[in-house]
Amino acid sequence: MYDYYLGGKDHYEADRVRAEEAVVADPTLINLIKENRAFIGRAVRYMAEQGIDQFLDIGTGLPTQQNVHQIAHSVNPDARVVYVDYDEQVVAHGRALLADAEQTTMIHADLRRPSEILEHVRMRRLLDFDKPVGMLLVATLHFIPDEDDPHGIMAELRDALAPGSHLALTHASADGVPDVVAKVVEVYRKTSAPGTPRTREQVTGLFGDFALADPGLVWAPLWRPERPVSMEEAVQTWFYAGVGRKP
Ligand SMILES: C[S@@+](CC[C@H](N)C(=O)[O-])C[C@H]1O[C@@H](n2cnc3c(N)ncnc32)[C@H](O)[C@@H]1O
Repeated sequence: MYDYYLGGKDHYEADRVRAEEAVVADPTLINLIKENRAFIGRAVRYMAEQGIDQFLDIGTGLPTQQNVHQIAHSVNPDARVVYVDYDEQVVAHGRALLADAEQTTMIHADLRRPSEILEHVRMRRLLDFDKPVGMLLVATLHFIPDEDDPHGIMAELRDALAPGSHLALTHASADGVPDVVAKVVEVYRKTSAPGTPRTREQVTGLFGDFALADPGLVWAPLWRPERPVSMEEAVQTWFYAGVGRKP
């Protein structure tokens, strides 16, 4: 469905049908997805400028334009990137894209079992966990229902990181436009990936004791924008976005 929103060709008929249904539920949905991608660009550049030279991107999605390694390399050509996804198709496409890339790899692992990620041999070979890591969970955690304990999962991941590490995430929330979000959630309930929007307080909790960089947790277009953004426009983009730093 996400590939369909981004204008890609790697989706099935069933994905297209549900994605079109979701766009009827929220006619601004494609803009939200673009804003989410734009946040990845700003957040990775920000982290790279803070000196982060190794990234762990969990819930990567199908390769598109301006993936994390391309953004990171625009600031630091030596940056290393590990992509993680549990979707076989995403992993196959990612590996094909990265066939020639030495500093980037894609692993198949499930976020619901953080040790699968943290103990992965190929991940450990590329990233040094004694040094700061930039961890991304962008538009991914709302696919983890409460019964799978997203706060416990995040605590385990955060604990594994060295001081100075960063966490960038976006997360769906019904705080701003609850009626719109309820309609989209209804569509996703019919898919293999139902979503769980969370409140500002719940999303803030995912950062644990990480200190949020300015401007804190905000609607995605408002996170260090490169153009003027009104609150009216931003609230239509019902993903919270933030970047935190481990003390
Ligand atoms: C909406 S896409 C986001 C892609 C990209 N991060 C972005 O924001 O553009 C969510 C991705 O998370 C992955 N995902 C969902 N649950 C996951 C899990 N339990 N473990 C690993 N990946 C997961 C999905 O396969 C999908 O590729």
